[in-house]
Amino acid sequence: MYSKTKIILGKTLSFKQNPMVDGLEGSYSFLDTGAVFIKNGVIEKVIDTQGLNLPAGAEIIDRKENLILAGFVDAHLHFPQTAIINSWGRRLIDWLNEYTFPEEGKFHDIGYALEIASRYFDICLSHGVTTSVSYGTIHPESVDAFFTEAKARGLRALTGKTCMDRNAPSYLRDSAQASYDQSKTLIEKWHGVNRLGYVITPRFSPTSTPEQLNALGSLWKEYPDCLMQTHIGEQPEEVNWVKELFPTSKDYLDTYEESGLLGPRSVFGHGIYLTDREKSRIKEVNASIIHCPTSNTFIGSGLFDMKGLARAGQKIGLATDIGGGSSFSMLKVMATAYEIAQLRGHALHPADLLWLSTRGSAESIHLDKKIGNLAPGMEADILVLDLYSTTAISQRAKQSKNIWELVFPTIMMGDDRAIKDVFIKGEKWLPKVK
Ligand code: GUN
Ligand code: ZN
Repeated sequence: MYSKTKIILGKTLSFKQNPMVDGLEGSYSFLDTGAVFIKNGVIEKVIDTQGLNLPAGAEIIDRKENLILAGFVDAHLHFPQTAIINSWGRRLIDWLNEYTFPEEGKFHDIGYALEIASRYFDICLSHGVTTSVSYGTIHPESVDAFFTEAKARGLRALTGKTCMDRNAPSYLRDSAQASYDQSKTLIEKWHGVNRLGYVITPRFSPTSTPEQLNALGSLWKEYPDCLMQTHIGEQPEEVNWVKELFPTSKDYLDTYEESGLLGPRSVFGHGIYLTDREKSRIKEVNASIIHCPTSNTFIGSGLFDMKGLARAGQKIGLATDIGGGSSFSMLKVMATAYEIAQLRGHALHPADLLWLSTRGSAESIHLDKKIGNLAPGMEADILVLDLYSTTAISQRAKQSKNIWELVFPTIMMGDDRAIKDVFIKGEKWLPKVK
């Protein structure tokens, strides 16, 4: 079908390399008078328009005062926790038992699951997140609801049924066999449909027996192009609990590796409390760690070692970890990542933060050839940021001398008001009127 070329004019930011590893110089491309050409939902080219005539007949979208970049990629969250975000006063294990499990128990009801999934995607898009990697609940209905709503919006999105066969209420437990069977059925139903991807999802070692972890390891062997996601090293109490439950395992990571759940497509949430052996093994197999800063401060987990891990060449993504995370905003997530790094004596550059929330996250889930950057051939999931969205941001931005000083106030103080436009495969997303 004939499709008109769409051209978005504005300040464009693309990444060529990881600024934390390869240095700032040469890691990015910034055009003050840029243009993104889109054809059939794909980015055709990103060029400097200075002195050029734009092609006649193209649809021009003029955002000259704004920053155009790839849509944010939220690499770890739990959409079924949307409605219990900001539940007060507990650390991880009590927070799960008191707030999370009762809410997740509701997702056997497809009507409720669809209602929350729909609300989740609308909130997420209003914050500029165009791809997210979510956990479901143990109910296949939660996965059906997430993928149904993502598909209706044309999104690239990933999730999986969260498997638990111990240390959870009976209404949230499956079994090794049921988790294998149901996950397999869901893979056959959804994996690779449009832009959807299935993620094999044992919640974390404390809520799975070795039999369940083994069953999911066998399933992964049958479907090796799926990602596998789980949690590791989020809080000291959790790490100690894993030691009690798996007395013969070398460490927390080993509980996964012993079951065939460690490989380049493993995606581990948190990774604050890791031994040197665990760090080097995760790095060695080229698995990913997802940093969830607003969750780590909200649940009181601790301070992630971004500098140490990034410099060692660890693949790292960034995420909200809804509903442990206190905000749907990836701007807030970046701001908190900055503050956590400062508390560890390291200042993350705005380029580091923008890399992490776009291309870094896309790399961590093996989708960097498709999303997470403004570059030819990439799916046109694009974000336009208003860098003057509030009085406080605007007065600071006006003092800026370069793009990094200009964008940093929005990273630190911005919210959904800074999200001017979101494009999904080149089509402008229109929020529902509330
Ligand atoms: N560890 C196991 N499950 C969860 C969860 O739902 N949220 C967070 N933050 N950590 C977890
Ligand atoms: Zn999580």
